[in-house]
Amino acid sequence: MNLAHLTINTSKKLELADSERIEHLLKPRWIGYGHSQKILGKLEDLLVFPKQSRMPNLLIVGETNNGKTVLVNRFRDKHPPLDNPNGDAIILPVLYIQAPPGPDERGIYNAILNRLFEPYGKSEATDSKRDRVVSVLRQLDLGMIIIDEIQHLLAGPYTKQRTCLNALKYLGNELCVPLVGIGTAEAIRAVQADPQLANRFNPEILPKWKLDQEYLRLLASFEKVIPLKQPSNLINRELAELILNMSGGTIGEISTLLNMASIFAIKNKIEKITKQTLEESGYIGPHLRKQAAARV
Ligand SMILES: Nc1ncnc2c1ncn2[C@@H]1O[C@H](COP(=O)(O)OP(=O)(O)OP(=O)(O)O)[C@@H](O)[C@H]1O
Ligand SMILES: [Mg+2]
Repeated sequence: MNLAHLTINTSKKLELADSERIEHLLKPRWIGYGHSQKILGKLEDLLVFPKQSRMPNLLIVGETNNGKTVLVNRFRDKHPPLDNPNGDAIILPVLYIQAPPGPDERGIYNAILNRLFEPYGKSEATDSKRDRVVSVLRQLDLGMIIIDEIQHLLAGPYTKQRTCLNALKYLGNELCVPLVGIGTAEAIRAVQADPQLANRFNPEILPKWKLDQEYLRLLASFEKVIPLKQPSNLINRELAELILNMSGGTIGEISTLLNMASIFAIKNKIEKITKQTLEESGYIGPHLRKQAAARV
C-alpha cells in the first residue's frame, strides 16, 4: 500500500481496528497554519517584552469555531507553570481565564482565584478580592494574562462594561504584564469605544478561510493526519470548494466535516474522502442549522 499521503505516525494508525481508528480521528489535534504561526509569534514576543507600567496588549478576534481557544491553549501548553525550588510559589508564565458570563468585576477575580485554587469567601468585598488577586499574582512571577470570551464582559450596562475593562487595565498596570483578550468582533468594537484601551490593544484577526493557497495547505495538512488508506487529494479544486461551501469556512466546521466524511468512508470501506462521502456523511453545516432553527 502506498502511504505517502499520510505522516509516519498516522500511517501506523491504519493497523488499528476501525473503531479505534475512529476514536483516534476524534481526538483533539493541532495543525499549524500561517495565521496561527504569526499570532503565536506575537504572543512569544509579548511574553518577553520588558516589564514596564504601560505594557502592550493584544486582542485576538475571530468568528466562533475558528480556532482562537485552540491557539491560545497551544501557547499555554508551551509555557506551563514551573516549580520554583528556590522560592515559595510556582512560576506562572501564562494565566488563562474565561471571562465570567456577564460584565461582573467580582466574577473576573473569582475566575482568577479559581484558576489558582485560592479559596475565597462569597461575601468578600470587591476591593479586598482585587488586592488579594494582585498580591497572589505578584508572587507567581506572572508573564501574561489571557482572557478568553472577552465579549462576555462587553454585554449589559455600559458602566459595568467600563468597570470590567478598567479592572483588567488595573491588573495589567499593577503587575506589569500584557493582557491578551480573545473574542468575537463585538470585542473589538467595545475596546475601540474607549480611546485609552484602543491604543493599547492591537487587534489580530483570525479570518475565515477562503479558496487560496493557505486554505489548500490546510486541507493537505488535514489529509496527512486523517488515517484513511487511500489518498483523497483534498486539494483537488472540486473537493476543496465543496468543503469550503459546506463548512462555511471556519476551521472547526472544516474539521468536523472532514471527520464525519472520514468516519463514513471507514464504515463503508471507501477509505478516502470523496464528494459522496462528504455529502452522505450526515454533516449539517452552520447555515443549514440556522435555517432548521428558524423553522421551529
Ligand atoms: N490549529 C488547529 N488544528 C486543528 N483543528 C483545529 C485547530 N484550531 C481549531 N481547530 C478545530 O476547531 C474547533 C474550534 O476551535 P476553537 O474552540 O479554538 O474555536 P474558537 O474560535 O475559540 O470558538 P468560540 O469563539 O466559539 O470559542 C476545535 O474544536 C478544533 O476541532
Ligand atoms: Mg473559544
